[in-house]
Amino acid sequence: MLSYRHSFHAGNYADVLKHIVQVEILSHLVIKDKPFTYIDTHSGAGLYSLSSEQATKTAEFSEGIGKLNKSDWPELESYFKIINSLNADGELAVYPGSPRIFGKDKRFIVKAEDGYEQLIALLPPMSKRGFVLIDPSYEIKSEYDRVVETLIKAHRRFTTGTYALWYPVVDRSRINRLEKKLIESGIKRIQLFELGQQKDTIERGMTSAGMIVINPPWTLFGKMKELLPRLATVLGRDDVPIFRCEELVGE
Ligand SMILES: C[S@@+](CC[C@H](N)C(=O)[O-])C[C@H]1O[C@@H](n2cnc3c(N)ncnc32)[C@H](O)[C@@H]1O
Repeated sequence: MLSYRHSFHAGNYADVLKHIVQVEILSHLVIKDKPFTYIDTHSGAGLYSLSSEQATKTAEFSEGIGKLNKSDWPELESYFKIINSLNADGELAVYPGSPRIFGKDKRFIVKAEDGYEQLIALLPPMSKRGFVLIDPSYEIKSEYDRVVETLIKAHRRFTTGTYALWYPVVDRSRINRLEKKLIESGIKRIQLFELGQQKDTIERGMTSAGMIVINPPWTLFGKMKELLPRLATVLGRDDVPIFRCEELVGE
């Protein structure tokens, strides 16, 4: 039986990385006064209590968002604005999931269906501009292959869209394989941003987490290059900051 519950992990360092990248991409898309489509294939609940039994059991957020002091991160103003708008009295009581990061809008459609199948069915979007966030729980190992296959298929249908794929590093060889498949797919403009909490182990829990972005906004790489070493210093458990900021495939 599949048992993944994001409420145990909400606001941890992996969520922080994911949502910073998500906010950066969305902030770039809204600059132009033109419609765009946002697709969140694995949206989850949308809002998480940090005082719930699940959240306090692991307290993962205390090593993630709980460690970041807003005043130290002026470049993350938009990200903190979203979190603060949900925590009016300044206490960190709730943390937003990716659909809540995007906001509220009566045009949103929520489907309780398979995110991979729905993604392919929805592409290409009418708007011709779009951002797809793929954030699976990777409960079954075959999911590492399924995400890449889906991403390649989606990209064929909607080549100009921006895609962000989240991944956990539990066994580095799986991520190496995933990267290799993407590089060999012929897809251009692929960047990778990874934030580590500790050095790699094999199957002893998540040690790093990353975002692979296809067709990133031109500002993203520079911003992440500045942010990642600092985030890794504050959020890492190791003496040495662990991160990656790489262009996997260029133009
Ligand atoms: C990592 S969580 C998503 C977190 C969310 N994107 C966020 O940033 O707050 C993955 C979610 O996908 C759901 N899920 C699992 N398999 C799915 C599928 N085939 N299609 C859509 N959602 C799925 C899980 O129940 C879980 O809520």
